[in-house]
Amino acid sequence: MTPSDLKELESTLLNKVKSSDSLRNLDNIRVSILGRKGEITEYMKSLSALGNDERKKAGQNLNSLKSSIIEAISVRQNELEAEELEGRLLKEKSDVTLPIRPKTKGSIHPVSQAMEECVAIFGQMGFSVAEGPDIEDDFHNFTALNIPPEHPARQMHDTFYLPESDEGEKLVLRTHTSPVQIRTMENSSPPIRIIAPGRTYRSDSDSTHTPMFHQIEALVIDEETHMGHLKGCIIDFCRAFFGIPDLPVRFRPSHFPFTEPSMEVDIGCSRENDELKIGNFGDGANNWLEIMGSGMVHPKVLEFGGINPQEYQGFAFGLGIDRIAMLKYGIPDLRTFFDADLRWLSHYGFDPLSIPSMIRGL
Ligand code: DAH
Repeated sequence: MTPSDLKELESTLLNKVKSSDSLRNLDNIRVSILGRKGEITEYMKSLSALGNDERKKAGQNLNSLKSSIIEAISVRQNELEAEELEGRLLKEKSDVTLPIRPKTKGSIHPVSQAMEECVAIFGQMGFSVAEGPDIEDDFHNFTALNIPPEHPARQMHDTFYLPESDEGEKLVLRTHTSPVQIRTMENSSPPIRIIAPGRTYRSDSDSTHTPMFHQIEALVIDEETHMGHLKGCIIDFCRAFFGIPDLPVRFRPSHFPFTEPSMEVDIGCSRENDELKIGNFGDGANNWLEIMGSGMVHPKVLEFGGINPQEYQGFAFGLGIDRIAMLKYGIPDLRTFFDADLRWLSHYGFDPLSIPSMIRGL
């Protein structure tokens, strides 16, 4: 290659580099000159055919050509990058006078909100949260809760049964959260102080019943637990949950197989012109609303849970979370809770960042 050939080659290549109009194009040009099959690379390969002296000279020439091309590519690259940035800045100029775009934000379902509030209230009282499976065996859902086979309470629960397994095991969708009492007793030892919120199932459907609903269970077991503890705990909870410090709470004798004695718990309300108001209005509550079942844990239940009833006793209660959410937030139909209607949720849902309101009553 004569010096003038070399000069010409250099100026052709440099022109190519300079005329590149984008970073991608520049890179293609780089590959076409310096890549494995690039122009200069090919020249380099052809050097082997030359004699020693000639090869050395031509090699030096090609190397210095290569350096000047590399230098030119880097200069062009900087220019193109600057141009591209400039272009983007012009294109992406923001108009601060435009109105902001509406932000879509999720909201907390009233059931989740009520459940969180319960957990927060009981958390302040020193309860921890326990869990159990939605699919329960007959023993935990019934037998260990002192509901033997053929007991009428089994019929009252409108149970969903699963097909019997080959081993003849009967599984059910748990009809209440009470089986978590048994599981907790089996897995820990007193003192016990737990709540168990969760899904429960019964074959039932109208404006105040859905086949799936939510309950929260509470269980306290210790050496000297008595009814005074039960009453204090429940009264404090009701007042904190509804945010009404003087909410009337009434205990009414009742029957549950798993407690003895058993009580239903009513809260004071007034009903005027078909309107239900929770709390003590005027001359005291003129009406009562049942909200939970409670009692001292039956000695047989303690035994089923592996706890000696001579040493320990305790109390338990259970209530419907959906129901107290309906009462607190004035939602008339339980079925709408599970319709998954976004308009309903944006009306009744809660701000995810709102602080649960339970602190007021405590
Ligand atoms: N498990 C009962 C139900 O679903 C509610 C209940 C009543 C729970 C009394 C309790 C209790 O822990 O002591 O109707």
